[in-house]
Amino acid sequence: MKIENAVVFVTGANRGLGLEFAKQALALGAKKVYAGSRDPSKVTLPGVIPVKLDVNNAQDVAAAAELAGDVTLLINNAGIASVSEGLTRPGSADLLRKTLETNLFGVLAMTQAFAPVLGRNGGGALLNVLSIVSWVNSPVIPEYSITKSAAWSLTNGVRHELRKQNTQVVGLHAGYIDTDLTSGFDVEKTAPSDVVRQAYAAIEAGELEVSVDEKTRAVKQALTQGVYLIDPSTQS
Ligand SMILES: NC(=O)c1ccc[n+]([C@@H]2O[C@H](COP(=O)([O-])OP(=O)(O)OC[C@H]3O[C@@H](n4cnc5c(N)ncnc54)[C@H](OP(=O)(O)O)[C@@H]3O)[C@@H](O)[C@H]2O)c1
Repeated sequence: MKIENAVVFVTGANRGLGLEFAKQALALGAKKVYAGSRDPSKVTLPGVIPVKLDVNNAQDVAAAAELAGDVTLLINNAGIASVSEGLTRPGSADLLRKTLETNLFGVLAMTQAFAPVLGRNGGGALLNVLSIVSWVNSPVIPEYSITKSAAWSLTNGVRHELRKQNTQVVGLHAGYIDTDLTSGFDVEKTAPSDVVRQAYAAIEAGELEVSVDEKTRAVKQALTQGVYLIDPSTQS
């Protein structure tokens, strides 16, 4: 599908990658861009329609689908991450539950609410923002990694189900991106503009999965040959 004339809904659109998704959708000629945010007053980008949306709040999700009944492209971008004390430490289960709530169940809730909308509007597309750690567990953020693996599997499952209504379901995988989420990490990062440019190009090309940087592409390639091991000295 083309972004030009699409009606786009972006979750977590007030900052970071979500803001960039909204900006580039406008630049590519989207007919309308809904910008979901837990606090809509934080959506300051001219030209978008702010929508109050906490993806963990069932009422918000239902109201968003009601309001935005003309959506043809859903970008499930909202996500959280926390540095971990380790999977074998007592706090791990709580951190995993909390992170799953947004990164997995939030995506599922939005998908369930918007699948009929996309179907009614001809199929359209749905893109889930996943990660390099969907494929390899990071020792710094192991709980987050588990949530992104689960969200990858969710993406693959939803793709099967929505094929019959002609919805293109895309998984986006990335290593470090230069947003607030990674401000504490002194590592090489991809610019959000580069990530989003590749994401929209993949949607327009009809692709089902996009890896936006060399490292991510290398990890996927390595998985076909065995287990990919993180270098403990560089955590990458
Ligand atoms: N940065 C990276 O290195 C990287 C790499 C791979 C994948 N990703 C993924 O990219 C996506 C965007 O991350 P980012 O880097 O842009 O992070 P970010 O700068 O921290 O922004 C996260 C966005 O998600 C929103 N959000 C969090 N919980 C939410 C909820 N329950 N309901 C609605 N919105 C919620 C935040 O809203 P508030 O402003 O209200 O907190 C914010 O708008 C995430 O799915 C993340 O996992 C990031």
